[in-house]
Amino acid sequence: MYKSLAKTSIVGKKVIFMPSCHSTNDICAEFVTAGQGENGLVIATDYQTNGRGQGANLWVSDKGENLIISVLLDTSFLAVSQQFYLNMVVCLSILEVLKNFLGENVKIKWPNDIYYSDKKVCGVLIQNILKGTSMEYSIVGIGINVNQVEFSPENAASLRMITGKWYELQTIFELTGEKLEKYYLLLKDGNNESLKRLYLKNLLWYQEAHNFALKSGEEIKGMITDVEESGRLIIKSGEVIHRFGYQEIRFVR
Ligand code: BTN
Repeated sequence: MYKSLAKTSIVGKKVIFMPSCHSTNDICAEFVTAGQGENGLVIATDYQTNGRGQGANLWVSDKGENLIISVLLDTSFLAVSQQFYLNMVVCLSILEVLKNFLGENVKIKWPNDIYYSDKKVCGVLIQNILKGTSMEYSIVGIGINVNQVEFSPENAASLRMITGKWYELQTIFELTGEKLEKYYLLLKDGNNESLKRLYLKNLLWYQEAHNFALKSGEEIKGMITDVEESGRLIIKSGEVIHRFGYQEIRFVR
């Protein structure tokens, strides 16, 4: 159960909590289709039977242990070609929440995972709803691993596993909603360039030489130099500039 947020003016003023559902992103989309979507609406649950991850992945989370929410945001002020700014804003807000508990060792892994050291602590799934060729709404699905202590993907961890402490989910929810609103408003006010600078500053492997695996199986050594506003990752390898979309590249540790 989550209470609506007291310190925000958009995000989480209306919170719909379902003890269990298939996917909060899907429920949020159903509200939009039914004409009941409003800016800042939050769908929250304790358990998803068909939690959606990036690509064809599932997002599996033990009942009542983690933060599972979808936030509906009006993104009609953003051009479709600039949609990745919303990903940046969402990552920066979660980064700020997690740094609060975990310190500075928290990084954004392109495009929008949040890592502590080599462990994934949060996944984000953004679904954009277009009206013709313009953005209308975005459904921001956020899964933060909070109190769960065992994960089958070994690269996952929770706040509790890292700090040894148990956390009230309402507290994490409040902070997440407040930070999301803060960065959303910065974007709405046109602070695109400073948001991008902050995103790059906190990006894992930014301007460091590392290996990356391409879909062809080939490995390249290169350096992340930028991220396009459409979301493509730019890697410089020798004198060659590569541009990769999601799932066209894998980070090799
Ligand atoms: C990923 O890293 O693969 C993205 C995971 C996103 C999970 C969240 S949990 C809340 C929302 N509802 C969903 O079905 N997925 C997102």
